[in-house]
Amino acid sequence: MGWASCARAAAAFLAVVAASAVDAQLAGHGGAVRALAVSADGDSLLSGSFDTSAIRWSLGTETAVEVLRYHADAVNAVAFLKDGRMITAGADARIAVWTTGRQQPDQVLEGHTGPVVALAVAPDGSTLASASWDRSVRLWSLADGASRVFEGHAQNVNGVAFAPDGRSLVSVGYDRALRIWRLSEGQPQTVALPAPLNAVVVASDGEIVAAGADGKLRLLTTDGKPAGEVAAGSAPIVALALSDDGELIAAAGIGGTVAIVERKSRSVLQTLVGPGFPIWSVVFLHDAATLVTGGADGKIRRWNAQSGEPIGSNLFGTPADPLAAYAGDHGADVFRACVACHALSAKEAQRAGPTLAGLFGRKIASLPGYRFSEALKTMDIVWTAETIAKLFELGPNAYTPGTKMPEQRIGSAEDRRALTDFLARATSQ
Ligand code: HEC
Repeated sequence: MGWASCARAAAAFLAVVAASAVDAQLAGHGGAVRALAVSADGDSLLSGSFDTSAIRWSLGTETAVEVLRYHADAVNAVAFLKDGRMITAGADARIAVWTTGRQQPDQVLEGHTGPVVALAVAPDGSTLASASWDRSVRLWSLADGASRVFEGHAQNVNGVAFAPDGRSLVSVGYDRALRIWRLSEGQPQTVALPAPLNAVVVASDGEIVAAGADGKLRLLTTDGKPAGEVAAGSAPIVALALSDDGELIAAAGIGGTVAIVERKSRSVLQTLVGPGFPIWSVVFLHDAATLVTGGADGKIRRWNAQSGEPIGSNLFGTPADPLAAYAGDHGADVFRACVACHALSAKEAQRAGPTLAGLFGRKIASLPGYRFSEALKTMDIVWTAETIAKLFELGPNAYTPGTKMPEQRIGSAEDRRALTDFLARATSQ
């Protein structure tokens, strides 16, 4: 699909998690926010991005709490388990399971051979379903990582959801098919629909809602019988969310609008109009009234779903992809792992980390106006290509003990060189 061909990062990073809360400015993603999830306790939001990272945000303080770095490509889907563990799934075909505060995933689920684009957690929390562009759906045991494969879609599978009793899975694909897999049998019931399908959700009463590339929502009964249709817009719908009470459906279109649909009346209550860029991800908070959206500009926004009004200004984020100007530059790809926290130019808003504008020749922790860790202020390091390379060869904890920067290393000397060459150019204007 066309929208897959977004910027891809080739950062060869080891897994990294910010263990400590980053307490400066609101941080943001350096690429489109492709996936969003809210924790069961309602305290945290997890976002996954084309910039290859996932960020856990505190909804209370509106700050980035930790950055999850493991995937070698876009993070397309994210989920929370009830116990607070987090799941990320990537275009690198991998699924990672994380415990809060750990620097590496606890578990990596491997088996898909194409990008994983959607996740669903079983109602009892024991299994996880994934949809992939390898045309399969997998059902994973979270206890031992074993998986069952469901094959039958003739094209990319774009969405997956559990029935409320957990006994069947619903998947939708670009092949215009909606499949209902009864887990005891494994053979699907197939419903042919008139348009390629990009997402699916199932309400707690069992009603199925599928999102079409023709801008229409199609509602089906638990058994797959047609039960209504709503035109959400003319542009393909790329993301769906259901409010906890099951009353509202949010359907995000690639054109940048989000239709808020009342499920009972099958009518569009509101259309949220963003500034014209695609919205890639939507999720309701547990109040069933606040919608959170993730955009192609890397921003995460909050809306009142009833009134259609934005809440506050922008919740989190950065302006348009700051690396767009460096497309094709390997060093810029390596820097994608940094862009969530560091600006390159003094004109950009400061993120969780200090701006790197004017970095070369600067003494460590000397940038005026940024609150550095005390431990850094007495170190005798001046930033050059050599010292920056060393920082990521040894890792911040070893080279600059006491730092707030999350642990991360760049294993390849070639990548370190590409990064420092890039920084020399990009931080000197
Ligand atoms: C999750 C946020 C985060 C990420 C990702 C991150 N950094 Fe940092 N970085 C920080 C923070 C916070 C500091 C300030 C450290 C302190 O004061 O303890 C910092 C400090 C630095 C410094 C020292 C700056 C100075 O003025 O002394 C450099 C250089 C740096 N980071 C480069 C990078 C590079 C290059 C990457 C990507 C490979 C990266 N950082 C990724 C948060 C991050």
